[in-house]
Amino acid sequence: MASSFIHSTRIPIEGAKTLPRKYYASAELYATEIQKIFFRRWLCVGRADEIPNPGDYVLRQIGDAGVLIVRDKTGELGAFHNTCRHRGTRLCENVSGNVGERIVCPYHSWTYTLDGQLIGAPSTAGIEGFDKADYPLHAVHLAEWEGFVFMNLGPDPEPFQEAYAPLVGKFSRFHLPTLVTARRIEYDVQANWKLLFQNYSECYHCSPVHPALVKLSPATSGENDLFDGPFLGGFMVINANAGSMTMSGRACGVAVSSALEEDDHHRVYYYSIFPNMLLSLHPDYVMFHTLWPAGPQRTLITCGWMFHPDTLRDPQFDSDDGVSFWDMTNRQDWHICEESQRGILSPAYEPGPYSPRESLSVAFDREVLKALGHNAA
Ligand code: FES
Ligand SMILES: [Fe+2]
Repeated sequence: MASSFIHSTRIPIEGAKTLPRKYYASAELYATEIQKIFFRRWLCVGRADEIPNPGDYVLRQIGDAGVLIVRDKTGELGAFHNTCRHRGTRLCENVSGNVGERIVCPYHSWTYTLDGQLIGAPSTAGIEGFDKADYPLHAVHLAEWEGFVFMNLGPDPEPFQEAYAPLVGKFSRFHLPTLVTARRIEYDVQANWKLLFQNYSECYHCSPVHPALVKLSPATSGENDLFDGPFLGGFMVINANAGSMTMSGRACGVAVSSALEEDDHHRVYYYSIFPNMLLSLHPDYVMFHTLWPAGPQRTLITCGWMFHPDTLRDPQFDSDDGVSFWDMTNRQDWHICEESQRGILSPAYEPGPYSPRESLSVAFDREVLKALGHNAA
C-alpha cells in the first residue's frame, strides 16, 4: 500500500485521468494483458528459501499457464510448465511440496528428472521413431535477485539483469538475501490487479483509509526516486517518536542490516515492481507482496515479512508487531480496492482526474498502456 509523495514535479500529469472501465472489467482486455504483460515480463515467484531442498517445488499459475519451480539434486532451481509431454496432464496438483527424486505424471507414469528430462515412458517401445530425448518438460526462464526468484514465460526474454538494471544493486545495503521470511499471509481480493498497484503508488488515501499508519508516517512525507517506467517508488518518513511501522509504534526487531545508513532508520522505502511485485523496506523488517491476477476482477496476493535472523532468535522482539500492523493495513487497502472495483463497474463510472499526489499511479497507468500498445487514455 502506501507511498504517496507530493514531490511530483518531475512527472507531468496535467490532465491525467483514471483508466476507462474496460481496463477493470473486460475479459478480452484481461486476456490481452496476460499475453502481452504477464507472459512476457519477469514475474516474482517468491523467495528462494521457500524451495530449500532437492525435490521441493512450488506451483505458480498465471492465466492458463501453470509453472512448476523445483530444486534439483545439485541445488539449482529450474522451472517447467506443469504439463506432461504425453497427454498434457498436470504433473503436480498441490501448490507446494516435494516430488522426491523424480517428477512422475499421475496419469500414465511418464517420469522426468528434476531438471526436466524424460527418463521413463512405459510401453512406448512400439511407437515408431519415439525418442525420450525429444520430450523434455517445457522449460521456463528463471532468475534470482536479492533472494527472490523470478520467472519469465516468454520464449526469448530480455535478460533479467538488463530488465532490472535500475534495481540491481539498489538495495544491497539491506542484505536482503540474509533475511528470513517469518510469516506469509495469502489474500483473495475481488479487484483488478491494476487497482492494487495504483493504490500502492499513492498515500492520498492514507488519512481516510489508514488512520493508524498516518500516526506513524505522515501521508505527505518523503520523496520519489523512481518515477517513470516499470519500477516506481521512493520513501516516506517514520515519525521521530516512532521506531517503525508496527502496532506498538516501536521497532519489532534489530536493524535488517548493519550497513543501513542513518536516514534508513527513519524511512520506509516503497517500490512497485511491474507487473507483480511490491517491495517495502523498513529499518527492522522487509515486506514483499506478489500479485497474481486471477481474472479481470480478482487478484490473489501473497504477502511476506522478512527479518534479520537475530530478531527471530531474540525473545525481546515480537515480529508479529510488524506483521499485524501490515495485515491490518493490507486489509484496509484490499477493502477499498474492492469498493473501487465495484464502483467502477457502475454504468455511471467515467474516468476522473488524478491529483498531483497520485503521480506514481499515473506513471503506472502509462506503463500499462505502453505495454499493451495502447494510446494514453
Ligand atoms: S498424460 Fe502424463 S503420462 Fe500420460
Ligand atoms: Fe494504502
